[in-house]
Amino acid sequence: MSDETAEVRIRPLQDTDLGDITGLDEKIAGEYRPDVWELRLGYYMRRDPDASLVAELDGAVVGFMLGEVRSGEFGLEEPTGWIEVMGVDPEVRGRSIGRRLAAAMLDYFRARGATTVRTLVDRDMEGIAQFFTALGFEPAGLTPFSKKLA
Ligand SMILES: CC(C)(COP(=O)(O)OP(=O)(O)OC[C@H]1O[C@@H](n2cnc3c(N)ncnc32)[C@H](O)[C@@H]1OP(=O)(O)O)[C@@H](O)C(=O)NCCC(=O)NCCS
Repeated sequence: MSDETAEVRIRPLQDTDLGDITGLDEKIAGEYRPDVWELRLGYYMRRDPDASLVAELDGAVVGFMLGEVRSGEFGLEEPTGWIEVMGVDPEVRGRSIGRRLAAAMLDYFRARGATTVRTLVDRDMEGIAQFFTALGFEPAGLTPFSKKLA
């Protein structure tokens, strides 16, 4: 652990984090979306209350990672940990906060019996593929298919 990250604390998501996470998303995506985040956090907390995490730096929420363990989707029967939504405050990126969030989430997935962790990366989103590659993720044999429903 470097001195720069010594004051980082990873803890489970709580419903009182809604305001901070909405603010972080606004910083990252440029849009204030409290209703979206209320629904989203509610979903993750109901599904798997201990899976999703926030990172605090000196007591302030600076990052979050939402995910859960599921099985049976896409023909994948084994319990699989899914990392689905994450964000780190642009002002504190590059300080291993994302790495720590992922490490804690993977520990939780293992404890829940998951043997694999999966995520989907949008190639148009800068840095996400590099982040997961740095964490040891590799391209998987699942190919996303989509079709416009216009
Ligand atoms: C991806 C993200 C979570 C990384 O957070 P972070 O705290 O800066 O990441 P870390 O400092 O823990 O980096 C971990 C590793 O990933 C690499 N990495 C992280 N971001 C990277 C980038 N943009 N380009 C290349 N590599 C990157 C780091 O170099 C580091 O590798 P190392 O440990 O081998 O040196 C953060 O950039 C982010 O929130 N991006 C926006 C996410 C988003 O759009 N979310 C909404 C949809 S899900």
